[in-house]
Amino acid sequence: MTKEIYLTGDRPTGKLHIGHYIGSLKNRVAMQNSGQYHPFIMIADTQAFTDNARNPEKIKQSLTEVALDYLAVGLNPNKSTIFVQSQIHGLPELTEYFMNLVSVARLQRNPTVKSEIQQKAFGESIPAGFLTYPVSQAADITIFKATKVPVGDDQEPMIEQTRELVRSFNNAYPGDVLVEPTGVFPPKGQGRLPGIDGNAKMSKSLNNGIYLSDDADTLAKKVKSMYTDPLHINIDDPGHVEGNVVFTYLDIFDSDKVRVQRLKDHYQAGGLGDMKLKKHLIDVMEAELAPIRQRRAEYAQDLPAVLKMLQDGSQRANQVAETTMQEVRAAIGVNYFG
Ligand code: TRP
Repeated sequence: MTKEIYLTGDRPTGKLHIGHYIGSLKNRVAMQNSGQYHPFIMIADTQAFTDNARNPEKIKQSLTEVALDYLAVGLNPNKSTIFVQSQIHGLPELTEYFMNLVSVARLQRNPTVKSEIQQKAFGESIPAGFLTYPVSQAADITIFKATKVPVGDDQEPMIEQTRELVRSFNNAYPGDVLVEPTGVFPPKGQGRLPGIDGNAKMSKSLNNGIYLSDDADTLAKKVKSMYTDPLHINIDDPGHVEGNVVFTYLDIFDSDKVRVQRLKDHYQAGGLGDMKLKKHLIDVMEAELAPIRQRRAEYAQDLPAVLKMLQDGSQRANQVAETTMQEVRAAIGVNYFG
């Protein structure tokens, strides 16, 4: 049985939080352990430069942090090729060829890039690399001939642009060298964990995240500060479950659904205090996150070994990429000298 190739990755711009874990990392580990796939997991440092060009120190530091997060959640370098984008020599070359198969107007229409540009307030100074990063992302995916790309909903436009580029490429050059990938998206309603303040998005800039590296005290403190129901003032008041972050988290972290329903009923009827509820959430989160935190601390004891793991993974990934690039060069006809 040939294994299906899946590829995904993260920009190294900070440590990963439990939103990444719930929305993506957990699923990656399950796919890895299913034995049905050959996973390529990429730390997208080159892409991180598209909006952090003047902050290479941040990217370098985050590279190790992300690698530790990967290992901590159970990504396994013996089952997955974990590698670093900048070390794959074929990527800028393939990106350059793709760049001529997409129009500037098409790039400006990408809705995710559009909203990121607004958020980041680039003004008149949008880096060219930022506007074109979906093209480089198409290269990331196609150089490994990935058929599946597990990502968050916000990455859907990137997959669409990748598919268009593959069609254009295969149309322009003979041999159907490149493969059209499909995105694998989180089940509806499970894609995104809200921040502890109730904001729909967990992010570093909003300072509302819980990190895989947070210690037990920090986790407890953050849960205790969680947004609940502003109308639930006295314990005996009837409380609201909708939009109450503690219940959103319980739905995800507490596998005992009957118990969660009982807590919801009790809360809505009145008589269940926020603190008691939060203590329960701390317990169930701690049960899932403590082993991750512990493994993370163990790997962090030997950072040279973590870097070596990335180096080995990058070397293996490079070989796969180079095989595709030979086909790409031959299809385009730039293999002039044999
Ligand atoms: N754009 C992705 C993010 O911001 C990271 C990424 C880069 C990626 N290249 C990729 C994801 C290829 C999937 C496939 O998280």
